Amino acid sequence: MLSNQIINWYLQNKRELPWRETKDPYQIWISEIMLQQTRVATAIDYFNRFIEQFPTISDLAKAKEQEVLKLWQGLGYYSRARNLHATAKIIQSQYNGIFPDSYEEILKLKGIGSYTAAAIASFAFNLPHAAVDGNVYRVLSRIYGIDKAIDSTEGKKYFQSIASETMGNARPEIFNQAIIEFGALQCIPRNPKCDICPLFANCFAYNNAQVDQLPIKSKQ
Ligand code: ADE
Repeated sequence: MLSNQIINWYLQNKRELPWRETKDPYQIWISEIMLQQTRVATAIDYFNRFIEQFPTISDLAKAKEQEVLKLWQGLGYYSRARNLHATAKIIQSQYNGIFPDSYEEILKLKGIGSYTAAAIASFAFNLPHAAVDGNVYRVLSRIYGIDKAIDSTEGKKYFQSIASETMGNARPEIFNQAIIEFGALQCIPRNPKCDICPLFANCFAYNNAQVDQLPIKSKQ
């Protein structure tokens, strides 16, 4: 089964990353917001400093905006930091300081879209929501030979359903981490490592010489 193959690959190849050592939704939220526009290697130190200075939602909610922005310096996209700070205050005042534990409630928070909500719901609460980011679009489009545009409404919907089907009954948090990591390390945008890929025999793109053509975007 595809999900088992990806998970087995993950267990042998995964990186140890600080946000994978925790089930704390607050820490996972911080990491996912950082990773929206920042590479993993850069995010690690920022993440560790952020959690050291603001270990809980309450600490972040009590902080001054300038302190939060200072910790964000160098990461760019400063609205992310402002949203984090504003949302921490809202969780503090409207959710009793407790991070919401359903996908729908998480999705309502500022700065959180369907990918990030699924990531938090699965990593922190083991909820079966497939987290579809750029890595996942790439992996699924190649394996199944999906030629729908990943930046179209129809394409996004389609990939979301394929990702859920592929997850099946696998453990959501492991499956999501595994397919993201597989896209980040193995099924990479240019020169993917097909020669050492455990999935090549069943990969549509590999078997049809389309690895370089997938995924497809409507806008360049
Ligand atoms: N990119 C987005 N989320 C990630 C995660 N949890 N691990 C590695 N890369 C990621």
